[in-house]
Amino acid sequence: MHKYSVRVNAETNAPPLIRTARLADLEALLALEQTSFSSDRISRRQYRHHLHSTAAIVMVAKQSDLLVGSALVLFRRGTRIARLYSLAIAGQARGRGIGRALLDAVAAKARARSCTRLRLEVRPDNAAAIGLYARAGLVRIGQRPDFYEDGSEAWIYELSLAGG
Ligand SMILES: CC(C)(COP(=O)(O)OP(=O)(O)OC[C@H]1O[C@@H](n2cnc3c(N)ncnc32)[C@H](O)[C@@H]1OP(=O)(O)O)[C@@H](O)C(=O)NCCC(=O)NCCS
Repeated sequence: MHKYSVRVNAETNAPPLIRTARLADLEALLALEQTSFSSDRISRRQYRHHLHSTAAIVMVAKQSDLLVGSALVLFRRGTRIARLYSLAIAGQARGRGIGRALLDAVAAKARARSCTRLRLEVRPDNAAAIGLYARAGLVRIGQRPDFYEDGSEAWIYELSLAGG
């Protein structure tokens, strides 16, 4: 019993592995989506599409072989603005820097694609996400009324990727 709990603690504290997602991650990605968002969820069909698309990168954070985080970034021809469409960390893994690590990994991918800015939308009442974005140097550049399925507005945040 004692050994078991020590092993679990050691694994829980292991640094997360951040990598691009594979098709084999699909079920775990959908499960994380389900528990992280109550609406505006990414569907199985959308995830399948993004996992195969050259216009999208899905990143995952894995810890002790469990998928504990995901990020989806979208690219469009003719613009150097990458869009962070989704970022989610499993409830039990929050507050340990994994969201920040995924955000940094996404920014690096966007830079590697010659993007100069990373943009995202967030609910104005999402204090955890806004705290993370502010801490990571994103700035609020505007808002979009009636953005989410429930009619809520979104705040738009942007990270400058120049010079990094
Ligand atoms: C928002 C979310 C991704 C943050 O992930 P996380 O791994 O817990 O965040 P981190 O541990 O990397 O925190 C980084 C910084 O964010 C801020 N932050 C994180 N959680 C916070 C909270 N609950 N309240 C205020 N600030 C918070 C802090 O500034 C923190 O830095 P610090 O620990 O040095 O103070 C996570 O809470 C989540 O998945 N929420 C549900 C899904 C969601 O809302 N996604 C964003 C949609 S736009």
